[in-house]
Amino acid sequence: MNDPQGNEGPPAMRAALLAWYDRHARSLPWRAPPGSGSRTDPYRVWLSEIMLQQTTVPHAAPYFAKFTERWPRVEALAAADRDDVLAAWAGLGYYARARNLHKCAQALAAQGGFPETVEGLKALPGVGDYTSAAIGAIAFDLPHVPVDGNVERVMARIFALETPLPAAKPEIRALAARFAADDRPGDFAQALMDLGATVCTPKSPACALCPWRDNCAAFAQGDPAAYPKRAPKKKKPHRQGVAFWMQRDGAVLLRRQPDEGLLGGMWLPPSTPWREEAWSEGEALGHAPAAAEWEDIGAEARHVFTHFSLGLEIWRAAAPAGFTPDAEERFVKLEDLPESGLPSVGRKVWKLAAS
Ligand code: ADE
Repeated sequence: MNDPQGNEGPPAMRAALLAWYDRHARSLPWRAPPGSGSRTDPYRVWLSEIMLQQTTVPHAAPYFAKFTERWPRVEALAAADRDDVLAAWAGLGYYARARNLHKCAQALAAQGGFPETVEGLKALPGVGDYTSAAIGAIAFDLPHVPVDGNVERVMARIFALETPLPAAKPEIRALAARFAADDRPGDFAQALMDLGATVCTPKSPACALCPWRDNCAAFAQGDPAAYPKRAPKKKKPHRQGVAFWMQRDGAVLLRRQPDEGLLGGMWLPPSTPWREEAWSEGEALGHAPAAAEWEDIGAEARHVFTHFSLGLEIWRAAAPAGFTPDAEERFVKLEDLPESGLPSVGRKVWKLAAS
């Protein structure tokens, strides 16, 4: 590791970054304008931070608008039907987050609002190190520096950190903590995020525009994009399954996923379990929702999750006479599918099955 270049320590670097932020802050719906001194509504900060984990600002923004219009306060979200919250979340992925979001809203409503300490925030469902520091800094001006992927990249470059990610995480948190201070912690946290998202980008960083260029050890070395170093990626396992597209009277059968799993609580066309080994026809049939004239449509829906990739073959059939859905199944009209909260993998199955 190298010390930042130049003679400037964290206080001067903070001032330079805040001055940059005063001119270049992105205008985002959950933000107070920089330097306004006005605090942001902790509900909006919390909601945006949960949505922005693993998602970009442009992808999350319409969801944020939809949620805050429908549930303007945490009490309203707490009182919402969980299925409605999951359906509104569809497309953001990581559905455990949506389940925790709802659980957290209920905890917050029960305790009468947001705790104003990082420890109190961290005790909430779905709120970890990053989110508690982000809400603490942005909503309550607590002197913390939340470290997300953007901030990791900035720190790794400023200090030309040789330790690869993910092993470098504790070291990066300690480096970031050097920048913590009481002066405008919320603006500073968001300035760092904006710097990472708009200037110190993963590829071809715009160093000419960077307020920290003269402090950056990686820039001084000539190839800032070489940081952060990363341990070689393990190849993701590939899983396979068969999805059953069963229609009746212009509606398709969906099944609710068990609460514990990856897409817990979400509605999807029924399928075999997903496993690495291929499915024989006979085995797959054993998982079909009904005995029917199943036709293999010869198309595969592909989706990449965090820990594996998935290929779903699609079999299609008309529901047999007298079929009744079981407790965790229901028919949804095809015209209602766009609003039904199908997660992305389900949308892919639908597009292929319908074509
Ligand atoms: N990414 C995560 N939180 C953010 C925020 N508050 N502003 C901009 N980008 C973010």
